[in-house]
Amino acid sequence: MDKYVIDGGKQLHGSVMLQSAKNAVLPLFAASILTEKRVVIRDAPNISDVTCMAQILRELGAEVSFSDGNVTIDSANASCHEISSALTKELRSSVFMLGSLLTRFRRALIAYPGGCDIGLRPIDLHLNALKRLGVTISERDGFIFCACDRLRGAEILLDFPSVGATENILLAAVKAEGRTVLTGAAKEPEIVDLQNFLNAMGARVAGAGTDVIEIEGVKELHGVTYRPIRDRIEAGTYLFAGAACGGEVETIGVTPENIRLLLHKLRENGCKVHVKNDKIRVESNGRLRCNRRIETMPFPGFPTDLQAQATALNASCEGCALIVENLFETRFKYVPELQKMGADIEVKGRTAFVRGVKRLHGARVVAGDLRGGAALVIAALGAEGTTEVLDLSHIDRGYADLREKFRALGAEIRRVRV
Ligand code: UD1
Repeated sequence: MDKYVIDGGKQLHGSVMLQSAKNAVLPLFAASILTEKRVVIRDAPNISDVTCMAQILRELGAEVSFSDGNVTIDSANASCHEISSALTKELRSSVFMLGSLLTRFRRALIAYPGGCDIGLRPIDLHLNALKRLGVTISERDGFIFCACDRLRGAEILLDFPSVGATENILLAAVKAEGRTVLTGAAKEPEIVDLQNFLNAMGARVAGAGTDVIEIEGVKELHGVTYRPIRDRIEAGTYLFAGAACGGEVETIGVTPENIRLLLHKLRENGCKVHVKNDKIRVESNGRLRCNRRIETMPFPGFPTDLQAQATALNASCEGCALIVENLFETRFKYVPELQKMGADIEVKGRTAFVRGVKRLHGARVVAGDLRGGAALVIAALGAEGTTEVLDLSHIDRGYADLREKFRALGAEIRRVRV
């Protein structure tokens, strides 16, 4: 298992070209089996969640090849509707496979999904929506078996705008008979991207990015070559790092509207934020104020996937911050690691109360989940002394070339095999 060794305290200067968005690419992999024709996803990020999704498709019988950063998926010979528990446990996004397996084979057998250990993460909304489309579901011994004779369009109301459930509904309804109207849909930019991808395959989906998505079932979908949107969470991670270390960091590839609240929060910290088209530049003198309150919400609210990074920044700002996590129950597991670096943070249930300290210091910390791991890297880059971040397997799930990108900004970060 590798670790990062980070000598903190260096200012960051430069530009980061963002990877394609993890949360956009993973559903596209699932969508690729909706057609027997060839699908090419351009600029797929080199992250382990993508490798895992490719492995799932291979288990189904699809051919998946990587070349020059592009992925080609040919599922003409796919015939299997089962996903082994080893793979579903590793990757929660495998749950999207339910919708596309049902569209393709009318059957799906998957183990209960895994992913980051950040809370209960039930899938009741997914399963109830599939039932509305005519699917019967049985659960036994940690496996979910779904089957239908045909998928029928329906009116579906989501109690909560779940990202994964919204995507699953799109994947199950896109070739269903008739029209599906989904009310209470999640509005994340990655859902708009899935709509664009499906429409490029010949689907008739409209309304993504709003509360109501309408899907007119079509008979066939054709192959497509598609470049997904860039990663707004990766953008936020580098911008927070720039703020924490001082200096000037620019990200390229994400439209500012997709991270508007984050930019507002950085201005509140005392950073200067400049935006131009898909370029966002943050200037920081390294002496920042705490945000009064950050509360995670579904899009367009503050993303839960940037909560840990925001806490890491606030940990060494002046004043106090209240960080409220509304989406996942146990998403403060990284806090004890930040405390080892001198952070003064108290967690009660879904709220973290941060009292900013002058400077964090180096320590030996463990990255227990993907975004919590990114937060530790940010804290380490801004801290005094040397930090070792152990267990990079979670960080590798979502960040391609993290070490190289930070080194190009002037950080002292090494990856060492232990
Ligand atoms: C997706 C993202 C993840 C992000 C999250 C919220 C991907 C691959 N992952 O995860 O990075 O943190 O959106 O923005 O895109 N819920 C239920 N029942 C359900 C489904 C969800 O109660 O059937 C609850 C969850 O427990 C959670 C909340 O809804 O409290 C949000 O979950 P959801 O939007 O579904 O997140 P994911 O799709 O799992």
